[in-house]
Amino acid sequence: MTESTTPPVGRRAVIAGAAAGVASAVAPKVYAGDSRKAYAIVGCGSRARMFQDALWGPHKYHGRLVAVCDTNPGRMAYVDTRAAKAGAPAPKAYGIADFSRMVRETKPDALIVTTPDAYHVDYILRALDAGLDVITEKPMTTDAVKAQAILDAVKRTGGKVRVSFNYRYSPFRSQIKEILMSGAIGDILSVDFHWLLNTVHGADYFRRWHGNKAISGGLMVHKATHHFDLVNWWLSDMPATVNATGKRQFYTPEMARRLGLSGPHDRCHTCPEKAACTFQLDLAADPGLKALYLDNEHHDGYFRDRCVFRPDISIEDTMNVIVGYEGGATLSYSLNAFNAWEGYHVAFNGTKGRLEHHLNEQATTAGSGAAQSEAERGGIRLIPLRQAAQDIPLRTGTGSHGGGDAVMLADIFDPHAPADPLLRTADERGGAASILIGVAANRCFETGQPVRIDSLVTGLGRPAYPPMPGRDQPVPMPLPA
Ligand SMILES: NC(=O)c1ccc[n+]([C@@H]2O[C@H](COP(=O)([O-])OP(=O)(O)OC[C@H]3O[C@@H](n4cnc5c(N)ncnc54)[C@H](O)[C@@H]3O)[C@@H](O)[C@H]2O)c1
Repeated sequence: MTESTTPPVGRRAVIAGAAAGVASAVAPKVYAGDSRKAYAIVGCGSRARMFQDALWGPHKYHGRLVAVCDTNPGRMAYVDTRAAKAGAPAPKAYGIADFSRMVRETKPDALIVTTPDAYHVDYILRALDAGLDVITEKPMTTDAVKAQAILDAVKRTGGKVRVSFNYRYSPFRSQIKEILMSGAIGDILSVDFHWLLNTVHGADYFRRWHGNKAISGGLMVHKATHHFDLVNWWLSDMPATVNATGKRQFYTPEMARRLGLSGPHDRCHTCPEKAACTFQLDLAADPGLKALYLDNEHHDGYFRDRCVFRPDISIEDTMNVIVGYEGGATLSYSLNAFNAWEGYHVAFNGTKGRLEHHLNEQATTAGSGAAQSEAERGGIRLIPLRQAAQDIPLRTGTGSHGGGDAVMLADIFDPHAPADPLLRTADERGGAASILIGVAANRCFETGQPVRIDSLVTGLGRPAYPPMPGRDQPVPMPLPA
């Protein structure tokens, strides 16, 4: 690579408030010898595209993609097609048996891990032992043994693991953190958090590897890792105890019959009843899904459109969890995957008042097809004790995950990213703290018994969380408005 362009000033998504990223003051230079950080990606499916596009687009002056590794040669060839469209050099492609050769030959500084969840650990450990930094997608891993192996490997190697918790970076979730840090509701005694997945996105988890608990850890790990991480980080606290119940009661063969089908089938592509099933996913009709999955099935038999009602699904669709925190707060959380709308309600109950936040993640108004902005779909309400409620305008961004992905990518790739007062960068401790709530919940589903987080791993340590209003601070007597 001999590019020697002086790029425009590094751009960073800008949001208002203390947590805003600001444009780099210094333009990073790319020298003839190429001082950009070198990245390899393992797992070239849907999510990997975000990292590819970042390194071929807004962050091309900060990093270069030198290699990709995957079990499926067709999906690696698709990376080349996408690179050509982006005007970027094609990364070298390696099968998984050649992972070590990839590291030797292409000398990446960091590995980006975007495989299915249970396989993250294999690559995190190999990368750490090879002296690479790691950026892994959530969930960091899927069970306590694997989490322990990662915690130990970081200590053994002194390496760096970063878990890409993009939800922390959504402008409005950062805004919530700022309000809580300001002490507006005092110290937080409990949290009510209810997340709804609808029958479009929610159903998608039951179509492929996510429906196999051994690979995804179930929705308690795969999906709720985002939510548990948010609460850990919002509270700046560590989970201590978990009680939970979970069941699968909607995505079942019985429900297929109740919906008027003769029963579950294997997959949508060949389904004899697809015309009657509103859960049908037509891979051929979507160019992105076709190129990524349908066109590459013959390599590995990975069907992206398996029947959501088939009997071999091993994850829950209905989950309720109570978490006790070290600082004394309690979280009451639910996750349902078959709802009429998608989004969440969260409320923080504090010594000086209550903070409520909700977001409807569906982008259209039911029935009208009209797109709604995030500001229209969500809200934040602060209700001080014995005073009138205040509606606070929702800070919004653009792009995927409420604008969070772009801000997170700048934080990952831009060497001139400003210091973050909200400490949104998550390492292996934050990654473990969130998945261990899900792992504990999964254990509760089986045993019916509460689980202590410190019974699952040793040497976890406390992640770097920003300071919060203390429980020992005086609280003024609430006065009538
Ligand atoms: N942060 C987010 O919002 C977000 C969103 C989507 C996905 N993700 C995460 O990204 C990861 C990938 O998800 P996805 O939707 O892209 O999945 P995917 O199925 O589309 O892609 C996975 C890729 O990994 C490859 N693969 C499978 N087994 C492998 C192995 N043992 N070694 C190497 N490669 C292997 C597959 O061939 C495929 O190309 C998951 O961990 C998921 O949880 C995160």
